[in-house]
Amino acid sequence: MHTPVPEYLQEVLDALAGDDGGEVAQYIPDLAAADPDGFGLALATVAGRTHAAGDADREFSIQSVSKPFAYAAALMDRGFDTVLGSVGVEPSGEAFDELSLENGSHRPKNPMINAGAITVHQLLAGPGAGVDRRVERVLAFFSELADRPLTIDDSVLASELGTADRNLALAHMLRNHGVIDTDAHEAVRGYTAQCSVLVTARDLAVMGSVLAGAGVHPHTGERVMPAEVARQTLSAMAAAGMYDSAGTWFSDVGIPAKSGVSGGMLGVLPGQVGIGVFSPRLDAHGNSVRGVKVCERLSRDMNLHLM
Ligand code: DON
Repeated sequence: MHTPVPEYLQEVLDALAGDDGGEVAQYIPDLAAADPDGFGLALATVAGRTHAAGDADREFSIQSVSKPFAYAAALMDRGFDTVLGSVGVEPSGEAFDELSLENGSHRPKNPMINAGAITVHQLLAGPGAGVDRRVERVLAFFSELADRPLTIDDSVLASELGTADRNLALAHMLRNHGVIDTDAHEAVRGYTAQCSVLVTARDLAVMGSVLAGAGVHPHTGERVMPAEVARQTLSAMAAAGMYDSAGTWFSDVGIPAKSGVSGGMLGVLPGQVGIGVFSPRLDAHGNSVRGVKVCERLSRDMNLHLM
């Protein structure tokens, strides 16, 4: 590639700017009001360089892109045996808001679907930590990864809690099966606060670069998570980060990734780079339409496919 990186990123955005396919998420009122045209892209290398284009500094709620990072925090707080005893790592092949429990064990199939992420959130900050400590834990950890103090969007949080019937139903079922022991409303409140943390595409790229660097923060050179936690997190992303399109995604783009309903996308090429994209219009799976296309193009042009 001969074009300098910033010009190249802008070129990728320009090529897709006119694509208005998909729809902004409707089921959370605050997200339905999002500007559908926002479009930002950032790359952060394991050497600590960040390149950005478009609306890469526009804040949006992290939503499901929080799930891999909360999973990493839970693995650190509670160890592999406890976390893997509560949540599996198999693709569910179902939508993100299905219950998708394993037969027999009743474990949610993976930490990337809502049932798995609600369960993971209850494990944060040690046994018996209340909702406030769990939320503080994710906020502090996400801020450490992004290398800036992040905040929670209280309006998104209130908006989503007002329409959280489906997640409440999942939490009640999880409690009924003994997968969580937290009160269902408290479980959903903590998980929803986790989803309401405000980030930018640049933040996602930097957060992803820590996973790419096997847990070492490229800005400081400090280890912020054990290498095996980064590896486990990336494995879960590869298996299930793109929900019921995880297989198509992996064959087309070939890197572990995670999407969210506010239009954020995280991609991680191990050993090399974290990618953050923001574009709110979603496809039928709940993945950002232009986010997917940006990643397909980057993968092709930069030869990112792991296979
Ligand atoms: O639980 C929910 O419905 C949202 N807080 C997050 C879901 C999400 O981002 C799914 N991703 N496509």
